[in-house]
Amino acid sequence: MADKLIIFDTTLRDGEQSPGASMTKDEKLRIARQLERLKVDVIEAGFAASSNGDFEAVQLIARAIRDSTICSLSRANDRDISRAAEALQGAAHSRIHTFIATSALHMEKKLRMTPEQVLEQARLSVRFARNLVADVEFSPEDGYRSDMDFLCKVLEATIAEGATTINVPDTVGYAVPELYGTFIKTLRERIPNSDKAVWSVHCHNDLGMAVANSLAGVKMGGARQVECTINGLGERAGNCSLEEIVMAVKTRQDYFGLDIGIDTRHILAASRMVSQTTGFVVQPNKAVVGANAFAHASGIHQDGVLKARDTYEIMRAEDVGWSANKIVLGKLSGRNAFKQRLQELGVALESEADINTAFARFKELADRKSEIFDEDILALVNDESVTHEKEQFSFVSLSQHSETGERPHAAIVFTALGKEVRSESDGNGPVDASLKAIESHVKSGAEMVLYSVNAISGSTESQGEVTVRLQNSGRVVNGVGADPDIVVASAKAYLSALNKLQSKADRVAAQG
Ligand code: KIV
Ligand code: ZN
Repeated sequence: MADKLIIFDTTLRDGEQSPGASMTKDEKLRIARQLERLKVDVIEAGFAASSNGDFEAVQLIARAIRDSTICSLSRANDRDISRAAEALQGAAHSRIHTFIATSALHMEKKLRMTPEQVLEQARLSVRFARNLVADVEFSPEDGYRSDMDFLCKVLEATIAEGATTINVPDTVGYAVPELYGTFIKTLRERIPNSDKAVWSVHCHNDLGMAVANSLAGVKMGGARQVECTINGLGERAGNCSLEEIVMAVKTRQDYFGLDIGIDTRHILAASRMVSQTTGFVVQPNKAVVGANAFAHASGIHQDGVLKARDTYEIMRAEDVGWSANKIVLGKLSGRNAFKQRLQELGVALESEADINTAFARFKELADRKSEIFDEDILALVNDESVTHEKEQFSFVSLSQHSETGERPHAAIVFTALGKEVRSESDGNGPVDASLKAIESHVKSGAEMVLYSVNAISGSTESQGEVTVRLQNSGRVVNGVGADPDIVVASAKAYLSALNKLQSKADRVAAQG
């Protein structure tokens, strides 16, 4: 039997560190459920000690998920580790992931610690964590830029203390495949007790090589765990992308010779869910999950694919969930068909009452739009009326007027802390007028750093999905709104971003 490659997903932790990608705990739980459907081996649910919100999210996920191991990150100190263990109580399988930087640069400039102090802290932290849980992962942050002799000492010591997984991060995305693969191989050869731990790779994508480096770590270095995120979400240029690594290892089983437990048919739904939740749009030419990933435009290719699919296709679109991309429901569809589709999409609503609310929203949408796609369903279950997330601002209605030669004007009604507000403004266009009308009441002072519109299911008949990124006092948030009317979608996205700015402000305050 082939060796197994463990898939460790860190969308909810490293992915969330991407500016604007912060998620509420209910959003995280929804994504964790989808990761469980995908059969991800380990879900890094958050960094429990970093805020009360993160603690609660890890706790919620640890209690809800049964099949995947749930992991919390923690710095290498007793307080963080205890907090992680507390959040993980009740998990069917739990892991503490503790880390400390080991590169000369990080130790001297960031930690202001000597190598001896770092070695001692790493050792004591793993010992402390092993007294709380059996499954402990240790990461030397900026490991790839660390001195080889020192790194060997730290990793040997942490394995001796009981670390069950050793993860070697390329924290700043500096590695190239051959050198990273050799780095992992050398560590495993030089460390006498290296066979007592599973070796893991964690690569950032600053030079666009995160997936290639991870694969080299697996093939050349013998790593048997890959850390990755859906859509490659993550700080700066992101992390190694789950869908790419999984499909590379599966498609080239002949070369890698490794088994992977992922149920790839749920990949596309996971990608859509993460994109719609965070507002990070997937580029059309993105491998595996981009809109063009299986589209053949040139006549020669189309002709070839019609004669024999494998002339131009190395993977089957339906194996990663693309067959689900069809018209699924319409105006006449009943509640049972809707409920079944929700289940197939991995959306678990809390109660029958929630299904009723979502179904009512679906019917409203079906009245305005004859064809309802999976993406529409995923967008509507993110709606506040279905998620019950108490939001400060909530959209009610909008009217706007625009005519060639006249300055557009918008009048909006929304609620602020439950009270109805009416506001009007003109602007350069109807979207500008609507957002100015909101801002003239809210006075957030936030700067808009991104505005984008995406047709959810391709045509002009589709719902527009708008992402608005706001920045205020150094904080960045993304708001997402969907509606067949893109002016309404824009207003919803703006209100959603204001809500996130508000909740993020609370989170920072809670950390003191
Ligand atoms: O990139 C990194 O070094 C990390 C560690 C905390 C594992 O995310
Ligand atoms: Zn990272």
